[in-house]
Amino acid sequence: MIVGAQWGDEGKGKVVDLLAERGDAVIRFQGGNNAGHTIVRGDEVFKFHLIPSGILYPGKPCVVGNGVVVDPRVLTDEIDGLRRRGVDLSGLRISANAHLIMPYHLLLDQAGEAKLGKREIGTTKRGIGPCYADKASRLGIRLQDVLDEKILKQKITAAMEPKRQTLREYEKHPALDLHTMTEDYLAFGHRLETYIADTPPIAWKALEEGKLVVFEGAQGTLLDIDHGTYPFVTSSNPVAGSACVGAGVGPSSIDEVWGISKAYCTRVGAGPFPTELHDDMGARIQKAGGEFGTTTGRPRRCGWLDLVALRYAVKVNGLTGIVITKLDVLRGVETLRVATRYTGPDGALFDDFPYHQSVLHRARGDLVDLPGWTDDITGARRIDDLPEAARDYLAFVEEQLGVPVVMVSVGPDRDQMIWTEAAERVRPAAA
Ligand code: GDP
Ligand code: IMO
Ligand code: MG
Repeated sequence: MIVGAQWGDEGKGKVVDLLAERGDAVIRFQGGNNAGHTIVRGDEVFKFHLIPSGILYPGKPCVVGNGVVVDPRVLTDEIDGLRRRGVDLSGLRISANAHLIMPYHLLLDQAGEAKLGKREIGTTKRGIGPCYADKASRLGIRLQDVLDEKILKQKITAAMEPKRQTLREYEKHPALDLHTMTEDYLAFGHRLETYIADTPPIAWKALEEGKLVVFEGAQGTLLDIDHGTYPFVTSSNPVAGSACVGAGVGPSSIDEVWGISKAYCTRVGAGPFPTELHDDMGARIQKAGGEFGTTTGRPRRCGWLDLVALRYAVKVNGLTGIVITKLDVLRGVETLRVATRYTGPDGALFDDFPYHQSVLHRARGDLVDLPGWTDDITGARRIDDLPEAARDYLAFVEEQLGVPVVMVSVGPDRDQMIWTEAAERVRPAAA
């Protein structure tokens, strides 16, 4: 299982793509097209929002699980785009139980943010929150509903009813016309029909046969609606425990849980960020790391690696390994800094991630200095290829987290990866 250990965009797509080569199925289990997962293969760059990052292996079962919220317009566009690039989509399966993002969810997301004004969350405005809210209210429209006109109309009518007040200013919006919406969604249903499936049995079968199933998380631990920096979070559970729910398998099926973390920190959108840099160093990391959102293009806030938050991610997810990405980006920084604890308001010290919002919002990372390196490390393929300072940096992270670093990414391309012995155990035989 691959989960984000920070605030998203850690490089999950790249890791899933690599593991998928050896895997027998890849399953997305939560989130929606708020996600943007990048895969770089030489000159070719793929950005996936809904389709699992295993799709580049022809015929590989790639499942959009029941826990994902699906905007069918985005999904069909993504399918068309990949088809134009010659990608074989025969392995794609979408859970009939996945909830659909409807036009009113997009408008509600916008309206909700506008209403919050300065206190906005900075959502991706993709309708994610309102869709999950409808799911919990039992007013959601599922993919299976778009195969039947009568049911679809009834459900849309019921779902829109309690939203009339909030959507009043959009009353005449063409996207909210019941007839148009029904027609559009029936058409999407028609287009997606070949991919719709009862998806948990795909995972069960592969697991029963002892095959490798890769669960692909979206977002990250600190964006989790239960365990993240609420209310500055997404509306699903990106933590490992949610993969079982969102894919339909039991926890006993999971043997490895790897958390992906950059060698530093980033965050898109609002909310607390105890190691955030507001100076030239932040700008430098942003530039060197190309830290602009995959989905919205927004600049990502940058800061030093936060080991308090990462220790928390180890616990909340039960991580068995950590993958450090973008180590190459730190090249040339003379003194690297990492937070090992926080100073809260009134000078109180925190070794553990504070649960209280008023503490967290004012906490600052207590930073430890570590020596940097100047060598180009993008060609490193073994830990021993790295300069001593880079090895020490990784060793410090391991010691602080109590979890082994299983892979180290040293550039965007799929080849730019160090596989440790622990990772070799799941490495593609042919590689
Ligand atoms: P995800 O959402 O977790 O899949 O991550 P994103 O794709 O949103 O963001 C990660 C970005 O970093 C992408 O543009 C990747 O191509 C890039 N990337 C991944 N690993 C590395 C790395 O080791 N070094 C560098 N320089 N870029 C990387
Ligand atoms: P991947 O899978 C980074 C952030 C948004 C916002 C908050 C809530 O690519 O790592 P939402 O639209 O989900 O209601 O927005 O969550 N966010 C992400 N940040 N990576 C993501 O996905 C994100 N998905 C949502 O910026 O702060
Ligand atoms: Mg991303």
